[in-house]
Amino acid sequence: MSAGDGDGASPKPRPAGPCALIIFGAAGDLTRRLLLPSLYNLAREGLLSERFAVIGVARAPLGRDEFIAQVRRGMPEVKTGAAVDWLVSRLHYVQLDFNEQAGYGRLATELEDADRTHGTAGNYLFYLATAPEYFLEVTERLGSEGLLNQTNGRWRRIVVEKPFGHNLGSARELNRGLSRIAGEEQVYRIDHYLGKETVQNILVLRFANGIFEPVWNRRYVEHVQITVAETVGVELRGGYYDHTGALRDMVPNHLLQLLTLTAMEPPSSFSPAALQNEQVKVLGAIPPLGARECGLCAVRAQYTTGALDGGPVPGYREEPRVAPDSETETYVAMKLAIDNWRWAGVPFYIRTGKRLTARNTEVVIQFRKAPLTLFRTASVTLPSANRLHIHIQPEENISLQFAAKVPGPTVTVRPVEMRFCYRDYFGRENRTGYETLLYDAMIGDASLFKRGEMIEAGWSVVEPLLQAWEQPLTPLSLYPAGSAGPEAANQLLRRDGYEWMPLK
Ligand SMILES: NC(=O)c1ccc[n+]([C@@H]2O[C@H](COP(=O)([O-])OP(=O)(O)OC[C@H]3O[C@@H](n4cnc5c(N)ncnc54)[C@H](OP(=O)(O)O)[C@@H]3O)[C@@H](O)[C@H]2O)c1
Repeated sequence: MSAGDGDGASPKPRPAGPCALIIFGAAGDLTRRLLLPSLYNLAREGLLSERFAVIGVARAPLGRDEFIAQVRRGMPEVKTGAAVDWLVSRLHYVQLDFNEQAGYGRLATELEDADRTHGTAGNYLFYLATAPEYFLEVTERLGSEGLLNQTNGRWRRIVVEKPFGHNLGSARELNRGLSRIAGEEQVYRIDHYLGKETVQNILVLRFANGIFEPVWNRRYVEHVQITVAETVGVELRGGYYDHTGALRDMVPNHLLQLLTLTAMEPPSSFSPAALQNEQVKVLGAIPPLGARECGLCAVRAQYTTGALDGGPVPGYREEPRVAPDSETETYVAMKLAIDNWRWAGVPFYIRTGKRLTARNTEVVIQFRKAPLTLFRTASVTLPSANRLHIHIQPEENISLQFAAKVPGPTVTVRPVEMRFCYRDYFGRENRTGYETLLYDAMIGDASLFKRGEMIEAGWSVVEPLLQAWEQPLTPLSLYPAGSAGPEAANQLLRRDGYEWMPLK
C-alpha cells in the first residue's frame, strides 16, 4: 500500500520487479482458494514482472505437468485465457518434506534454474502457507541452505501466515526464533484482513477527509462496535479449531487490527513503522483485564443445533473432529476500554462468532445523540443517534445514518441512510484480498504486514482471558446455530444501555 498523489485519477501501479514466489503448502486450501486466484488477478492486471516464476512446494510426488493440471482444476472459473496461460508457463513444482533438509537443496537448484530461465534475479519471496508448527522449521532450513542471504542486491523475504503463536509466550518465542535467522525487514507477518479495500479505507476515510477526524473522539463518539460474524461452522477444520477457539482465531489478529485502525492517532506517514507505532500505542492503552473484568466484560459461547438458510445445522459438538464434550468457544464478545486522551470513557465492543444468522464484518461508530428538545412534540422514530457503518464483508460499503423529516404537514423525524458502495463506484470485484498483500510483499512495502511487536501487543490484550478461560468451570453460554449469538452478549451491552447492531 502506498499513498498516491490524490489527484483523483488513480495512477496505475507499476508491475512488481523480478522475483520467484515459492509457496510452501502448494497443495493446500489457502493456495488453491486464495493465493493462486490472487496471482491470476495480478497477472490479468499486469502487476507481475515478466521475469516472474512460482515454485509450488508440497509433499505429494507430482511432476510439473501434474501440478499444473491440479492448479487448473483448482481454478475452474479461469481454466483458459491469456493470463492463466501466462501464469501456468511460470509454474514449477518441487516435492519435499518440510522436515528433510535434502529437499531444500533441490529447491535451491530449482531456484537457480528459475533465475536462468525466467530471469528472476535471485529475488525470492517464500510464502509459508503451512501449518504453524512448520513456520520456524522451514525458515531455519531455508537459512541453513543459504536461501535467506541477501547479497549483491538480491532480496529474500518470508511471508508468515496466521496463527502467529497460540498465546503471548509462543508468539514471543516464534519472533525470537525468526529473528535469529532473518532480519525483521525480511519477515512479512500476514493478516489478510489488511488486504481488504475497506479496511485500508478506514485510514483514508479518517485521515484524507476533513470532516471526520474532528468528531472522532470521546466528545462526539458514544461507543464503537466491531463485528466479525460468520455463517459457516468449522467445516473441515474441526481438529484445528477445537484446540484454538474463537478468541485465539479471531481477536488478537483481525478484530484488534480493525480496532487499532479505528482508534489510532494519525501516523506521520504511510511508512510501516509510523503506522504500526500508532497501532501498538492503542493496544498498549487498553488496560489489562483483571479477574473481575474477565468475568464481567467478556462472553464466551458455543453454537448448538439450529437452522440456517432454511435447513437444519448440527451443533458444534457434533461437527467432525470436534470432541463431543468440547468446551471450546465458537463465539466471543468483549468490552474494551482505551485509556488515552482521545477515547477515555468510550467503550469498544467487539464480537465474533461462527454459525450466526448472517455473514457480516463491520465497524460502527455511534455518535452521541443531539439534544432532542426542539422535537419534544414531534413524532421521533428512534434510534436518532448518528451512526457511521464501515461494512467490510460481504459487501464493501460505508454508510452514514442521520435523521430526516418525513415529508408531510407534521414534523416527523426518521433515521435515513446515505451509502457509498465500493462496487457501484469503482466497479471492482472478484478480488480475494490477497492481491495487494502479495504485490506489496514483492515490492517490499510492509505497511500492511505486522511487525513482531504488534503481534505481541495483540496477544497481550487477550492473554488474561486465555488464562482465565483455562480454569475449570468457566461459564460457556450456548446459542442456536443461525441466531444472532448468546443472550449473555446482549446483556453485555444492555448493562450500558446499548444494543448490538442487527446482523443482516
Ligand atoms: N485456508 C484458509 O482459508 C486460510 C486462511 C487464512 C490462513 N490460513 C493459514 O494458512 C496456512 C495453510 O492453511 P491451509 O488451509 O492451506 O492448510 P492445508 O490445506 O492443510 O495445506 C497444508 C499444505 O502443507 C502441506 N504439508 C503439510 N505437512 C507437510 C510436510 N511435512 N511436508 C511438506 N508439505 C506438507 C500439505 O501437503 P499434503 O497435502 O501432502 O498434506 C498441504 O499442501 C495455515 O497456517 C492456516 O492457518 C489458511
